[in-house]
Amino acid sequence: MSDVMPSVNNHLDKVGKGFADFLTPPPEHVIRFTVGQPDFPTPDSIKSKVVEALDAGKTTYTRTGGSPELCKSVSRFLNERYSITADWENIVVTPGCKQAILYALMGLGNPGEEVLLLAPAWPTYDAQISLLGMTPVHVPCTTPDFHPDFDALEKAVTEKTKFILINSPNNPTGAVYTPDEVAKIVDLAVRHDLWILDDMIYATMVWSEHPYVSPATIPGGAERTITIGGWSKSWAMTGWRLGFCAGPPAAAKALHLCQTSAATHVPTFTMDAAAFALFADDDRMPMHNAFKERRDVIFSELSNIPQLKVRKPEGAFYIIIDIGGTGMDDKTFARRALEEADVQLIPASLMPGGEGFCRISYATNIPNIIEGCKRLREWLVRVC
Ligand SMILES: Cc1ncc(COP(=O)(O)O)c(C=O)c1O
Repeated sequence: MSDVMPSVNNHLDKVGKGFADFLTPPPEHVIRFTVGQPDFPTPDSIKSKVVEALDAGKTTYTRTGGSPELCKSVSRFLNERYSITADWENIVVTPGCKQAILYALMGLGNPGEEVLLLAPAWPTYDAQISLLGMTPVHVPCTTPDFHPDFDALEKAVTEKTKFILINSPNNPTGAVYTPDEVAKIVDLAVRHDLWILDDMIYATMVWSEHPYVSPATIPGGAERTITIGGWSKSWAMTGWRLGFCAGPPAAAKALHLCQTSAATHVPTFTMDAAAFALFADDDRMPMHNAFKERRDVIFSELSNIPQLKVRKPEGAFYIIIDIGGTGMDDKTFARRALEEADVQLIPASLMPGGEGFCRISYATNIPNIIEGCKRLREWLVRVC
């Protein structure tokens, strides 16, 4: 047998594992503050549309971007809820928001180009950018609010910069960028001729006074913004693998081409359900209200732990805690919290810019939140 083997993609060694090391399902008695998915089932009204579609024989190949009805529903949703103008023909419904981000990077970027990330950033961005032979440039946000640092962003731009990727409401920080900040992001992108990738998957989950604002609604923004979202979080549909992207015509053509080559389309029998879900507010709102209530509970519980510093999350279902007062680094904190307090959380240094913080997902019920915070409080009294 020959020792010589065909090589693998030589960018792979730069592709990180994200949160994997800290996401291992723990024993049942552990309070799991790690998983970024709603603990609700998909509403029955949405599920029943799949049964109807299967019974109606919707099991064949169909249009790459998704059925016209589905794309029109996404277009109407973006327009009515966020004032984003997206022609239905410029929308591609993808296998998850994750794949939509990949298409945008693949379809519009080239190896060697740089992508600005507002750090700490969801680790998949770094992994996808690296996988494609591009370079992630992590630009730390201001602390403690984790909003964009425009001086740092300006300094990070080089002649290789091609994209700025934003995510508001934000995973992991819970920040929601203000309208003024979004306008400044558009201004930066226009001046340096960058694409804006707007991952707005948590856009329905805003708890701050200011709303989610799309860069595509700011003058100069529409022609350079790819709006990327999905069904996973707001409609409790993580396993369905449904996301979307929308952009100006030339970009939309590239996104369609990526999907044609990579996936053909999402499963035909999920399309009616996805179209229906976007306006199924009666089913979505109880989950929305539960997350809002949990955010108040977790903020108040964590505020009672003197060794930790927290800010009220502005959106999504994450809260980032400053663990500097414990004298531990964040990985030690996460490891010991699991071993000694039976609480699983994510050390934020798994993302550049997150050093000294841990992320808690409050997509779990209120008794769990109260018990998890109690365990952290009692443990820190013992060890600090
Ligand atoms: C910021 C962000 N974008 C995208 C996703 C992935 O969404 P999807 O399940 O639609 O691929 C997640 C999931 O955790 C996320 O936090």
